[in-house]
Parts: sequence; C-alpha cells; structure tokens
Amino acid sequence: MPLPVLSAPPERVDIQLGERSYPILIGAGLLDDPASFAATPAAASALIVSNTTVAPLYAQALQTALANRFRTVHLLELPDGEVYKNLETLNLIFDALLGHGSDRKTVLFALGGGVVGDMTGFAAASYMRGVPFVQVPTTLLAQVDSSVGGKTAINHPLGKNMIGAFYQPQLVVCDLGTLQTLPPRELSAGLAEVIKYGPIHDMAFLDWIETNIDALVARDPAALAYAVKRSCEIKALVVGQDEREMGLRAILNFGHTFGHAIESGLGYGEWLHGEAVGCGMVMAAHLSQRLGGVDAAFVERLTRLIERAGLPIVGPALGADRYLELMRVDKKSEAGEIRFVVIDKPGSAAVSSAPDALVREVLAQCCAG
Ligand SMILES: NC(=O)c1ccc[n+]([C@@H]2O[C@H](COP(=O)([O-])OP(=O)(O)OC[C@H]3O[C@@H](n4cnc5c(N)ncnc54)[C@H](O)[C@@H]3O)[C@@H](O)[C@H]2O)c1
Ligand SMILES: [Zn+2]
Repeated sequence: MPLPVLSAPPERVDIQLGERSYPILIGAGLLDDPASFAATPAAASALIVSNTTVAPLYAQALQTALANRFRTVHLLELPDGEVYKNLETLNLIFDALLGHGSDRKTVLFALGGGVVGDMTGFAAASYMRGVPFVQVPTTLLAQVDSSVGGKTAINHPLGKNMIGAFYQPQLVVCDLGTLQTLPPRELSAGLAEVIKYGPIHDMAFLDWIETNIDALVARDPAALAYAVKRSCEIKALVVGQDEREMGLRAILNFGHTFGHAIESGLGYGEWLHGEAVGCGMVMAAHLSQRLGGVDAAFVERLTRLIERAGLPIVGPALGADRYLELMRVDKKSEAGEIRFVVIDKPGSAAVSSAPDALVREVLAQCCAG
C-alpha cells in the first residue's frame, strides 16, 4: 500500500517533561523518511516490534528508513489482538532482545496500535532496567492517545493494564498515511478519543470536530492531520502538568468509567475500547447534566456527534446493579466509591462522586432493554 507523498514538513508537538521531554511528529509519509528518525539515540542495533497485521503493511518501509542509523534492524511480529497483551507475549520481546544480543543502547520501535505500543513500552522500561524506545503508532487511537504520555502496561487475567510502568518514549512518529488502511470500526473508535478532548478542555475544538466529522470519517488527510495535532497538543498539556496521574490527568478518562464497565461487562473484545468510551461519554454527559455542569442541549449535541462518528450511543443492557458493581472495581474508584469524570462546565472537567440514585437514572435513560 503506497503512502501518500507529502512535501510539507511534519507538524511537531512537544511533550514538556524536563529531561524526559520528547517530540511528536505528525504528517503523511513520515514512516519511510529517514529524517523522521533523526532524533533517535545513536546505537548499533534496533528492534522493531509489530504484529502480524501491521508488519506486512509497514515494517519494510520503517526498516528501510532506519537502515542508515543502525547496523542491524531486527523485526519481531507478535500475534495480533488485545488477548495477546499479556506476560507470555511480553516474553517474546525479551526472547528476541536477548536472542539478538541486544544491549542497553538498543532502541525499540513500537510499530502498531495501542496494544503493540503498550507492550513494547513496558518491555523497553524493563529490559536491562530501561532501553530507549520510539512509538510509531498506526491506529488513530494510538496516535491521539496511547502512544503519547508514557503509560505502558500488559493485562493480567484478573485485570486490564494491571502490570505496567510510566516510561516515556524518546520520540513519537505519527504517519497519517497509515490510517488509510485502518478498518472503519477502528477509525471510529479512535474518533471517540479525539472527541473526548473537546468537552474536557476545548469547546472550539469540539466546534471544529462537529464541522469536520464527515471529512474525518471519510479520512480526509487534512482533517485527520488537524485532529491528531490538536489532540496531541491537549494531551501534551495535561501530561506535562501531571505525568503520573496524581490529579489533572484523570480528566483524560472522560467516558471511561462507564466505558470500562461496558467493556468488561460484555467481555473484552465485544465492543472496541473506543466504542465503549463513545457510549460512556454519552452516559457521563447525562450524569454531568444531572450534577448541573451542562444543559440538555450540550448532552444532545455531544450525543449526535458521537453517533455521526459511527459510535454506539445506547449502552448494552447489563442491568444497573451489574454496571455499579463493575464501576466499583474501576482503577479510579477509592474505597468502593466510584469516581466519575464529569463536565463541570463546557470545556472543563473534574473528578466527582455521584449518588447511586443519579447513576441509576442515567443508566435507565442510556441503556437498551
Ligand atoms: N498507554 C495509554 O495511555 C493507553 C491509552 C489508551 C489505550 N491504550 C491501550 O491501547 C490498546 C488499544 O489500542 P488500539 O485501539 O490501537 O488497538 P490495537 O492495537 O489492537 O489495534 C487495532 C487493530 O488494528 C490493527 N491495525 C493497527 N494499525 C493498522 C493499520 N494502519 N492498518 C490496518 N490495521 C491496523 C491492529 O493490528 C489491530 O488488529 C488497548 O490495549 C488499551 O489499553 C493505552
Ligand atoms: Zn481510552
């Protein structure tokens, strides 16, 4: 699949974290351009970690782009899927690193979506107590969210993302051309995380998304470029102030308390994460309205936008008791009290508890059955 050729220089967004600062480059055709990787630390060897879906599409281009920077560039293809985001698959990365005689300077490249990015990042954090790594995200979700900010993790049978580390990459390269091969459901799932940034931080961005939602769904390159850039800017701002989620960073979880309940209640993989977050944002908006932060018109507006992005807006009929039970074990809950991210006024979010009775009203209104 040829990537669109683009002569314009890439957009650049900086994550400001003192000595852990790094750039995010955003543009089309970056993957096969050696200049994209000029900021990569000097080393003898690199390992590209990808999966069986993404590697056949893009690994060759990346290998060629890196050929002049490293003496050897190895490729590891992991099995594709969230079910493989576990200790066993992580071990395949360590096997490859040790098998190739990789040292403390070996650079890991994560080529794929959030699953590959989270696993490769965690492998980089722990191999020889830390080797440099570069994110090359190829899904919209990974470009606007998971590749940025340094959260890395694998799943445990008893909980998602339960084993992990904060570990920042050296560089993030978002090649927008890769989004052209993304399955439509995955594109919509990524749009959920793009939309999220509007209500929590930037109503002008929400206006822009509303105007451009059809272009985004149609994968218009210019629209995607702006959406990725603005999303990364907002994530950079939040992460720059609260790298380890002691407070502010939690607002990035708007829609996620309800969303995680949908994901685990249905069984992981039934709905994509972004689909659950889209629907979860509808629920969180209704809760925000009941708590007085936004009006009915705001809720209606956000709901229509989520629907136009190709995302579900009606929650599955798990039953209110089950939803509440699932939300009480969410990572954000404290001493059994569920913590919701709510909109306290348009463009601003806060973490709040809510009376069960209000949550039940929201669930009754937003769920099927
Ligand atoms: N670290 C963080 O801050 C953070 C934030 C949000 C989500 N996550 C994690 O991210 C993961 C979800 O990431 P995701 O939505 O990218 O899912 P994913 O990595 O599973 O990718 C989705 C699917 O698209 C395929 N794919 C990837 N790029 C493609 C391309 N360009 N063309 C065709 N197919 C392509 C993948 O092989 C996969 O089948 C979850 O594990 C979640 O926990 C992490
Ligand atoms: Zn998310």
